[in-house]
Amino acid sequence: MIKLINISKIYPPNIAALRKINLHIKPGEFVSIVGQSGTGKTTLVKTLIGEEKVSGGKIIIGGWDITNIGRREVPFLRRQIGVVFQDFKLLDKKTLFENVAFALQVCGQTAKKIRNIVPHVLKIVGLEGKMKRYPYEISGGEQQRVVIARALVHRPKILLADEPTGNLDSINAEEIIELLQKINKFGTTIVLVTHNREAVNRLRKRVITLDKGTVSGDQAVGKYIL
Ligand SMILES: Nc1ncnc2c1ncn2[C@@H]1O[C@H](COP(=O)(O)OP(=O)(O)O)[C@@H](O)[C@H]1O
Ligand SMILES: [Mg+2]
Repeated sequence: MIKLINISKIYPPNIAALRKINLHIKPGEFVSIVGQSGTGKTTLVKTLIGEEKVSGGKIIIGGWDITNIGRREVPFLRRQIGVVFQDFKLLDKKTLFENVAFALQVCGQTAKKIRNIVPHVLKIVGLEGKMKRYPYEISGGEQQRVVIARALVHRPKILLADEPTGNLDSINAEEIIELLQKINKFGTTIVLVTHNREAVNRLRKRVITLDKGTVSGDQAVGKYIL
């Protein structure tokens, strides 16, 4: 599903964020990526969605070599990969329904499709009863659920979550991890970047540790050891 071959990323003038990363993530896996701040986790996520170009190596996603992906092809890649970042960027003046619908409108989906898909994904994240609310009328955990719903509108094969629980208390964080597990059970490959030690240890899934831009650990049933 995701193949990284000797990936390196050097930001100007000379900051080596990723150094010869080799990884293979299979369809349906749930992988956690851990590591100290500044070790390249977010850079890795950005290269996977075509937001940053790599300086060397090769990235293959679902058989598609995206190493030199052009700007016009990025939207097609984004339909295969949903992304969730720590800072939930919801539009304040739009309802939850409209926030999720917006992701479909920008790529020209019909109103009929939008009326079908939006309630469906909001139901998956447990918010079907709050579609008409505004972001300020729901909790932080619920806001992050809306972001996850938005990331699911194109039925992505892969969901990348970069510290999705970073701004949440432990109960909300736990619920977000449970939601990611549920999405994984539907068959979506999950890549979770996290600092949440309890979450990683409870998951008992594969854990990849990054250290200064290299893979320093890769365990099938990992523990958070930093
Ligand atoms: N746009 C950028 N320009 C220059 N340096 C960057 C940029 N983004 C990240 N870096 C640097 O690359 C390294 C890895 O950053 P990042 O991928 O954000 O790490 P992490 O997500 O693990 O905290 C850090 O040294 C960071 O300062
Ligand atoms: Mg980061």
